[in-house]
This record gives sequence, structure tokens and C-alpha cells, in this order.
Amino acid sequence: MAKIPTYSSIDIEEDKYVYRPDVDTFALIDALDLSLGEMRGKVFTSIEIGCGSGVVSTYLSSKLPVISTCTDINPFALSLTKKVSLENEAYCVLPIRTDLCSGFSPQFAFDVVIFNPPYVPSEKEEVWQPGGKLHPEKIDTSPAFSFDFTKSVSFSREKIIEDSDEWVQTGNILTCALSGGDNGREVIDRFLHDHMDIIASSKYFFLVCVSENNPKELMKLIELGTKREVDQWESGKTPKPCQKRCEVVIRRDCQSEGLYIIRATNV
Ligand SMILES: C[S@@+](CC[C@H](N)C(=O)[O-])C[C@H]1O[C@@H](n2cnc3c(N)ncnc32)[C@H](O)[C@@H]1O
Repeated sequence: MAKIPTYSSIDIEEDKYVYRPDVDTFALIDALDLSLGEMRGKVFTSIEIGCGSGVVSTYLSSKLPVISTCTDINPFALSLTKKVSLENEAYCVLPIRTDLCSGFSPQFAFDVVIFNPPYVPSEKEEVWQPGGKLHPEKIDTSPAFSFDFTKSVSFSREKIIEDSDEWVQTGNILTCALSGGDNGREVIDRFLHDHMDIIASSKYFFLVCVSENNPKELMKLIELGTKREVDQWESGKTPKPCQKRCEVVIRRDCQSEGLYIIRATNV
């Protein structure tokens, strides 16, 4: 088992609003650990979607010389990510508030893409959607982060509370860390549809999912490569040959979950 970064910062008051590292987080870190040797010298940039506490990107950046961009819709998660990375002397972790990886041009190729999504089957209303019920305002993706690698995030707890809406303060923020809607697939599918280019241009893509999400089908979707190809496949047309090869690198039975870590690499 990989040695998990420390996260004593997580006990700070505001961090009760952040998804705590759990079995899925640890399985994802183990999957990265298994690939470290192979990735060394080949990967220099990464993006983690939905970074939560930031331990996953902190782990990667502490093991390899990688600049790790981290996104989350939860401002507390971004603040904690910065603290956890500094606590572990991983200075190249950049938290950015955005929906999935909106705002990043598909031309900007990240070597590693990591996503531990909200995958638990739930009511539709519990899923975070831009402009949706849980967050009717269009998310502001202007900098809620610091570019200074050596300093802590430039915004305070008071500032987050002041800037945040009811959604952040009522606990909905933790619901949307877990809730994946129908079959737990809504956020995953939106990511695969809208950001397949980011996956296609990566060298390694790591995705966490559970049995209810239909991992086999997910692997098929990822292997087809681009959004256009996925659309073709969905409308019943013949897909192009695979550009990515997917494999299950970790499979664990945890509590009621059959947990899978899928890894996609270039063919
Ligand atoms: C299951 S948690 C995983 C957290 C962390 N990566 C880990 O492995 O411990 C899912 C995270 O995704 C974030 N999230 C949910 N919907 C999102 C979206 N549309 N865009 C960005 N982040 C999102 C949540 O706030 C939460 O931090």
C-alpha cells in the first residue's frame, strides 16, 4: 500500500465541508503508486478533477516532478488542497475553482488526468450541475487560488463564507461530492462527453468508479477516443478503432461498494 500524504490540516474547522480521504481515495493513490515507475520521466503535468482534500495530487507531486493542477467546485476543497500540499512540501499543486475542467483549452495537454467523481447512485436533484438547482448561479471561475507555490491560498475562511452562497453553507456541498444521479453516472458521463479531448491528449487517465456505474461500458466509452466517436457509438454507428487501452488496475470490495480504478493509456 502506498504511503498516504499527511492531512492534519483537514481537522481545521472549515474542512468539515470537504470530502475526507476514504477507501476510494486510497485505492486511487495505490493505482498511481503502481504506475509511478512507468510514468517517471514521461509525465510532467497533471490535472485532478474534483480534488477534495488534495491528497491524491499531493501524492503524485511528492513522488514525481509533476505540476499538478487541481479543480473543484468547492472553495473549501481548494483551500484545503493548498494546505495539504504545503504540509507535505509538494509545492507544485495549483488549486483552481471550476466545473470539471471547464476553462482549459483541449489543446493544453495534461500528461496525467485523474478523476474520482461523485459516483454514488442518487436522486437527480442531488447532483451538482452548472446553473442547476444546487447552484443556480453560473460558477465564477475567476481566480480563487494563488499562483504563488510557496504561500498558502490567498483567501481566508471569512472570505469564502462571505463569497459563498447558501449551497456551500448548508451541507449540500458534501452531498454533491458523492451524488452521481442515475446509476451514479451523471457527472462521469458529462465529463466524458464534454472533456474527452483532455482525456484523449493525456498519456494516463485514472478514473474511480463502482459496479453500479458499469465499468465495462465506461472503458468502452473511453477507448473510443473522442466526443464525436462517442456520439457515433451512442447513436449506434460503428466506432473507430481504439486509441486508448483501458484496464482495471485495482478492484476492491469496500463496504457495500465494488470499487474499480480504471487506467487508460495510449495504444
Ligand atoms: C468523491 S470526492 C473525491 C475527492 C478526492 N479527489 C479524493 O479522491 O478524496 C468528489 C469531489 O468532486 C468534487 N466535484 C463534484 N462535482 C464537481 C464538478 N462538477 N466539478 C469539479 N469538482 C466536482 C466534489 O466537490 C468532491 O470534492
